[in-house]
Amino acid sequence: MRIGALASGTGSVLEAILEDDLPVSVVVVDRPCGAEKVAERAKVPVERVLRTRFDRGFDRGGYTREVVDALERHRVEVVVMAGYGTVLGRAMHERYPGRVLNTHPALLPSFPGWHAVAEALAAGVKVTGCTVHVATPEVDAGPILAQEAVPVLEGDTEETLHERIKQVERRLYPRTVREFCGSLDGRDGHEGT
Ligand code: GRF
Repeated sequence: MRIGALASGTGSVLEAILEDDLPVSVVVVDRPCGAEKVAERAKVPVERVLRTRFDRGFDRGGYTREVVDALERHRVEVVVMAGYGTVLGRAMHERYPGRVLNTHPALLPSFPGWHAVAEALAAGVKVTGCTVHVATPEVDAGPILAQEAVPVLEGDTEETLHERIKQVERRLYPRTVREFCGSLDGRDGHEGT
């Protein structure tokens, strides 16, 4: 199985995936970020498909095709988003139907979107968590594969709460990706990851 990881942030979830020895063939980033260093340390090739526009003029379709091309160059079969800051267009899901996974720092369907942790905190929930799901063209809405609850503690800030959630993601996401790939191996006629 050949996995392509997409990341934009510090890369701590990516690091957990790599430390779990999942077969990541390439890391694609949309901006200069810590995840690049994580990939380099693990000797995994990095493809920079830099996003230069964040306004309405952003060519999402064209950008998505560039990401798909980068993944195809590395013969990727499963895509794992690990804190990727760009919503990809339909071409991604057409090329990898049901094979794009994501981890989200809230208990979906509550608090979808990029500000999930801040919104959970603002809503005053006592429990939030994380969700590993199959990504679909609709953001944060695909079939749920795994979830785990995380308590919100007195005095939490967005940073402290997000870090507590990420500790769980770093354990839950690699395990769920491994199980998902295992279920595909049988279907694809492969014998290992
Ligand atoms: C994770 O909380 C993930 O759910 C979200 O972005 C975060 C990635 O963090 N989409 P890091 O860059 O891996 O530390």
